[in-house]
Amino acid sequence: MARLSDDFIREIKYRNDLGELAGAYMQLKRGGRDLVGLCPFHGEKTPSFHIRTENGLFHCFGCGAGGDVITFVMKIENLDYMEAVKFLAQRAGMSMPEDDYDDSLSKMRTRIYEANREAARFYYQKLISKEGAQGLSYLRNRGLADRTIRHFGLGFAPDERFALGDHLRSRGFTENEMIAANLVFKSRSGNSVLDRFYNRVMFPIIDVRGNVIAFGGRIMSDQKPKYLNTSDTLVFNKSNNLFSLNNAKNSKSDSLILCEGYMDVISLNQAGFTNAVATLGTALTPDQAALMKRYCKEVLICYDADEAGQKATARAIDILRKAGLIVRVITIPDGKDPDEFIRRHGDQGHAAFQNIINGSGNDMDYRMSKLKARYDMNATQDKLNYLNEAVNLLCELDNPMEREIYASKLSDETGVSVSSIKEQVDNGLKRRRRAYRKNEFSQAQRSLSARDDRVNPQHASNLRATNAEESLIAYLINHPDRLTYIHERVKPEDFTTDFSRKLYEYFSERILNNLDPLTALSRDFTSEEQSKIVEIADKYKNMPHTREALDEFIGVILDESSKPTEQDIRNSSAEEFTDLFSNLKSKKTKPNDQ
Ligand code: GTP
Ligand code: MN
Repeated sequence: MARLSDDFIREIKYRNDLGELAGAYMQLKRGGRDLVGLCPFHGEKTPSFHIRTENGLFHCFGCGAGGDVITFVMKIENLDYMEAVKFLAQRAGMSMPEDDYDDSLSKMRTRIYEANREAARFYYQKLISKEGAQGLSYLRNRGLADRTIRHFGLGFAPDERFALGDHLRSRGFTENEMIAANLVFKSRSGNSVLDRFYNRVMFPIIDVRGNVIAFGGRIMSDQKPKYLNTSDTLVFNKSNNLFSLNNAKNSKSDSLILCEGYMDVISLNQAGFTNAVATLGTALTPDQAALMKRYCKEVLICYDADEAGQKATARAIDILRKAGLIVRVITIPDGKDPDEFIRRHGDQGHAAFQNIINGSGNDMDYRMSKLKARYDMNATQDKLNYLNEAVNLLCELDNPMEREIYASKLSDETGVSVSSIKEQVDNGLKRRRRAYRKNEFSQAQRSLSARDDRVNPQHASNLRATNAEESLIAYLINHPDRLTYIHERVKPEDFTTDFSRKLYEYFSERILNNLDPLTALSRDFTSEEQSKIVEIADKYKNMPHTREALDEFIGVILDESSKPTEQDIRNSSAEEFTDLFSNLKSKKTKPNDQ
């Protein structure tokens, strides 16, 4: 791939301050010289996402994401490198240099969006034409107004195998593009392509930027499969998108209503709850929770009333809480799902649903009532067990006021005094805090530990070498003027670990060419590698900056490089081994490799 010039990347970065840009997606607080916040790339409650204002790089201690402003945009907007650069260029009012890169992947993405949009148009036209009469009456029978159908761009895939394929071909789409969009697939013989969806009502899935990224199609009878969804494509990943988030993000509400199905969301919208979203036929993922966190503070889970729905609720509570969201649970009193509930209440749908929202407890109420249902409050042992489990639940609450409220609720329920419940809770909290501290400590240890170093897998078995190598690199980044001095003493071959060697060569070459070491990181490294580089650059803050310190790093690197590797030992004869060994002991001379 032809590369963007350094000058251009520097300009992009200069005009797009990472802190300012990230601030539009998340809350950031100043912490020392860093900006700190909850990581938008994984769910968390205590902030481990840092932006280094001095070099415009970010780094998350929790999930290991890291990089510069371009990487940030790639990850948060789900774009590839070139698209992210374009995004930032546009934001800064710059034009892109023409024709100096290969953008076939991003072109394909654009074609998939276009094919999807055309397909949505096609399905909608079919729905409102004679051919789609069956689909239209199906949707109307399910209580949808024409205005709702239009708003969601619902459609109809006719009962033919070539209808959409032929149409898209006539609009200039190639078979490759249609297949990549998962709108058609190759027949078994391989001679033709067949429509993926036929004889179904169609639900387009639209992302927050308004692109049609996928479809769900429902059969109009009891046949199976009831729903068919687009498989993952270059533009669609079902586990990090939500149906109707494009509508919900514009609702004034601070909360989102999370449902199971397309029809639930559409019915809720029709009844005025535009903040409803649904997962796409799979269980809720942490990615989806993090996505919701960008648009709301609170999630109301409104899953089906059946057992599967209730199990899914328990799982969702956990995932959403971990993402730092406030959680409430809406229980549908009559009907199997929100869609049925609203339809049952006809014109009163809005009021009736608002009513159950108002009456809905938070996740704590929900869990306590589920727990209580399992025990017989008249049996002493049952009551005790209930109390113990309920106390455990109370211990999960961060807020002392909340704990107080539930302690007194629990006391009312059981007749046990508030003070002894609170004593139990306090004991539980102490135990937990101890366990947490222990766990946090070992986690911190682990994250520091070299075993987890996926970017530099040789770290673990070469602690001393890696430490010196990274210090030297940190030094070099901060003292490009010392390049010659360092080069006279350390050759790339002297590095023990491959990743450090790669960095040494990379930064040396940039400095030799008078380029800023860090400018093109996102072009040349993955997010994980960048994160590692941020860590390495950080080392500089805590290390001595003297010439003596530099000489010491160099000394350790040379010393370590003279040690035989495992490979050397395995491949060596007995005599050679003795040589290697004495070499190791003298720690002075280098064996003549090659
Ligand atoms: P309606 O019967 O149309 O009201 O559907 P529902 O939304 O009540 O469906 P249900 O609760 O059975 O399923 C919830 C969601 O799971 C649907 O909206 C689909 O996204 C997904 N789903 C349901 N059935 C299937 C299926 O057979 N295959 C796949 N892939 N997904 C399904
Ligand atoms: Mn339903």
